[in-house]
Amino acid sequence: MFSIKILHSVSKILLSFTLLCTCIAIADDAAFMSKLAKALSPTPSGWSGTSFCEWKGVRCTTNGVSSINIASQSLTGTLPPDLNSLSQLTSLSLQGNALSGALPSLANLSMLETVFLEGNIFSSIPDGCFQGLLSLQSLSMADNFNLAPWRIPAELTQSTNLVILDLGNTNLIGTLPDVFDSLVSLRELRLSYNNLTGGLPKTFAVSGIQNLWLNNQKDGFGFSGTIEVLASMTRLSRVWLFKNLFTGPIPDLSNCTALFDLQLSDNQLTGVVPPSLMSLSSLLKVSLDNNVLQGPVPSFGKGVKVTLDGVNSFCRKDSGPCDSRVTTLLDIAKDFGYPLQLARSWSGNDPCGDWSFVVCATGKIVTMNLAKQNLTGTISPAFANLTDLKNLYLNDNHLGGSIPGDLVNLAQLRILDVSNNNLSGDVPKFPTKVKFNNAGNLLLGHSRGGGGSDTTPSSGSSDAPTESPNTASGGFSLSSAWIAGIVVIGVFFVSMVVVVFCTCHTINWHWTLEKVKNLENEKKVVLIEGQSVIMSIQFLCQVTNNFSEKNILGRGGFGQRGFG
Ligand SMILES: *[C@@H]1O[C@H](CO)[C@@H](O)[C@H](O)[C@H]1NC(C)=O
Ligand SMILES: *[C@@H]1O[C@H](CO)[C@@H](O)[C@H](O)[C@H]1NC(C)=O
Ligand SMILES: *[C@@H]1O[C@H](CO)[C@@H](O)[C@H](O)[C@H]1NC(C)=O
Ligand SMILES: *[C@@H]1O[C@H](CO)[C@@H](O)[C@H](O)[C@H]1NC(C)=O
Ligand SMILES: *[C@@H]1O[C@H](CO)[C@@H](O)[C@H](O)[C@H]1NC(C)=O
Ligand SMILES: *[C@@H]1O[C@H](CO)[C@@H](O)[C@H](O)[C@H]1NC(C)=O
Repeated sequence: MFSIKILHSVSKILLSFTLLCTCIAIADDAAFMSKLAKALSPTPSGWSGTSFCEWKGVRCTTNGVSSINIASQSLTGTLPPDLNSLSQLTSLSLQGNALSGALPSLANLSMLETVFLEGNIFSSIPDGCFQGLLSLQSLSMADNFNLAPWRIPAELTQSTNLVILDLGNTNLIGTLPDVFDSLVSLRELRLSYNNLTGGLPKTFAVSGIQNLWLNNQKDGFGFSGTIEVLASMTRLSRVWLFKNLFTGPIPDLSNCTALFDLQLSDNQLTGVVPPSLMSLSSLLKVSLDNNVLQGPVPSFGKGVKVTLDGVNSFCRKDSGPCDSRVTTLLDIAKDFGYPLQLARSWSGNDPCGDWSFVVCATGKIVTMNLAKQNLTGTISPAFANLTDLKNLYLNDNHLGGSIPGDLVNLAQLRILDVSNNNLSGDVPKFPTKVKFNNAGNLLLGHSRGGGGSDTTPSSGSSDAPTESPNTASGGFSLSSAWIAGIVVIGVFFVSMVVVVFCTCHTINWHWTLEKVKNLENEKKVVLIEGQSVIMSIQFLCQVTNNFSEKNILGRGGFGQRGFG
């Protein structure tokens, strides 16, 4: 009886304490809500009296306001700046009004889950506005065209629950930050109708984005670079990239098995439409018009709605295979990443028409002059299929990889200039009738008597390692071969010094010490200048009796025998 009384009083005290706290929180919220009601014009319908928790569109928990919904009421006014004092807020719906002025900071509203602000005329967004939104699932601000130019807020990476981000038509500038590995829940990203630039971020590859809208950036600006990363975004279902500055080929999207809507028109995409796209069974809608696509006109299945009109560089008007010379030239362009200047000029089905960089004689391709075209990528083995080729200029580009060995089979070839690139690997042996220039490729293997310039101006002389590196050069980089060589020579010399010193120690102190001093001096020389190796080896042969087995460390009665 007595104990029950105590329990009763304790619980009464606890209850009143909780109520007090609640009242304080509610009182704080009351101050803000009354400011908000005054700031809006007209006053939202159903917002009268002091018990704001009963106002239309407002919901409270025992701790304060949890939800405000005053969408589509043609409200004007500027929101009070201390909106984030509503610490219990989980949902904010202000869309479809004409609210203006600065958006109040939402920072630290850690319970906030959904924010709808689209279709207003806010003028600015404060720095750090979206910090600490740990519960945020959906942020939609589209069509706030009056905003001062702003950038995609990097602090959104704290919102790891974010599923939908819609910042379309909000005057965004700058690039897409490479943070999509943090936004693990993101499914919809809409950034259309802005002034965004730069490439697609690498971390798109690990995101689970399903709907991607990046279309219609400002005329003459927009996203650029390749769309290669799409191939790794296997959850994609809808992709709108039209009206941007994307370049390069359409990647193989065969792992995007849910993709049904792919809109790529009005870019600068080049290359052959991959056959895998035409056989992607999920696909329902494709737009490819106004690009610089090449090769055969793609033919999609009956159920697929396709637009292909506008500028493209397909080889024929109807569907059907290209001329074999066109196919070969497109193979060549592919290994350069289908550069735009080739795609623009190489259209139609006759390379001997008026294609740039191609010179023909009686319908045969005899010269290709691709010098100084800023080309990247590699030299395609498909050049070997141009059997009439006499002159091939690829000099002064940024080409990597190796020179395809098949080029030696070009019977008519007279001039091959690959100078001033970044080629590596072995140099094929061309017949002497070929004037071959490979100068200015620092990583290219040595071509003995190959006619090319054999001078490598690096600090180590190129003649020093007379045998080993060339024979062991399968995929072995020059620098590591050098290091290995120097280490081997170094270890060898140190052991030989020990051998010589110890051996001579027992025979002839004075004579040997003199020689060893010389030897040590030479060793230093050797490490700096490769050419001294040969001299030293000759010298060593003298003092070690031609490397007699007897003198090898760990064998025989070392140290007890003299020179044989
Ligand atoms: C949000 O919280 C952090 C850490 O508690 C604090 O440093 C920051 O000033 C807060 N921001 C705002 C706008 O209240
Ligand atoms: C778009 O951004 C660029 C800078 O990237 C700027 O020069 C240009 O004026 C902007 N265009 C518009 C219409 O705001
Ligand atoms: C598709 O995914 C598989 C497995 O991850 C991978 O091996 C393959 O290269 C991918 N194909 C393409 C075209 O990216
Ligand atoms: C070559 O490419 C670089 C980078 O891709 C570019 O900045 C430069 O303008 C290009 N030069 C020419 C002549 O196209
Ligand atoms: C060369 O042409 C033949 C026949 O047209 C073709 O099979 C082959 O793939 C081509 N080689 C290259 C490297 O394109
Ligand atoms: C040249 O090629 C090597 C690989 O062979 C690469 O590491 C290097 O970055 C390239 N240099 C330039 C300037 O492209």
